[in-house]
Amino acid sequence: MSVEEILAKAARRFADAGVEQPRRRARSLLAAALCCDPASLLAHPEREVGLPEEERFASFQARMLAREPFSRILGRREFWGLDFALSAETFDPRPETETVVEAVLDEIKDRNAALFLLDLGTGSGALLLSLLSELPHALGVGVDRLEGAATAARSNALSLGLGGRALILAGDWGGALRGGFDIVVSNPPYIATGALPLLPPEVRFHDPRSALDGGADGREAYRVIARDLPRLLAPGGIFACELGAAEEGAVRAILASCGFEAASVKADLAGIPRALLARRGGHKGQKP
Ligand SMILES: C[S@@+](CC[C@H](N)C(=O)[O-])C[C@H]1O[C@@H](n2cnc3c(N)ncnc32)[C@H](O)[C@@H]1O
Repeated sequence: MSVEEILAKAARRFADAGVEQPRRRARSLLAAALCCDPASLLAHPEREVGLPEEERFASFQARMLAREPFSRILGRREFWGLDFALSAETFDPRPETETVVEAVLDEIKDRNAALFLLDLGTGSGALLLSLLSELPHALGVGVDRLEGAATAARSNALSLGLGGRALILAGDWGGALRGGFDIVVSNPPYIATGALPLLPPEVRFHDPRSALDGGADGREAYRVIARDLPRLLAPGGIFACELGAAEEGAVRAILASCGFEAASVKADLAGIPRALLARRGGHKGQKP
């Protein structure tokens, strides 16, 4: 069959199943099955597709119709304009998490400074590697409890050309680290255990539980991280974390109980308070 015939059939199937932008989705999936650019399918609709690629496309379609996220089928996600490979043990980075990157960069006076970064619960390395891509003289450590996530983050660091400035460790939050970090970031799991069954299947069945489960009230990780902050952050250092919807007050209170006052909160594109930033007290003029 030709590209055009296959696309027309798949787009009809997707439209019937209520998939948004069915033609576009079908084209992106077919391009992935053929390992080519979607634009080249527009340019050559007459191209004949071989049987192995057709079969691959059929399996992609079945996964899509079973509500597997597009990024999981492709095994890749763009975040902060960078290409991240995903694995079964990595959280699929979400666009709203870019608000944390923006909040940190807004706060840094000199992007050429030799800063020392820490990303707690690094997953694919999305936060750490995005920040390192903007801070050419910074070094960073990423920690994740899942060995498979740490492996994926390491491999993303290498493929993004940041392997020389990123150390990725498997571990339990910052427990094994001494400190001295100028910037600590985290997008911790923040869904209450009891609410996990209510998550849409795209999340529930495809993101690792360790990336979602925030304990009985969804705030357990914030408590552990906040307790470690006085040790981990250098004087004058910045802590920035992602917030779940309507969690600003609770996370502010957790930080306050450890001596940190939230300095600012940045909303995401939907207007939801998403990135909370706090600073450790210290001598003026200290970096960042
Ligand atoms: C919501 S995901 C965020 C991943 C990535 N930072 C991002 O924004 O895409 C939370 C991450 O925290 C990790 N995590 C959960 N518990 C942890 C722990 N005790 N120590 C270290 N990492 C942990 C999970 O494995 C997961 O990768």
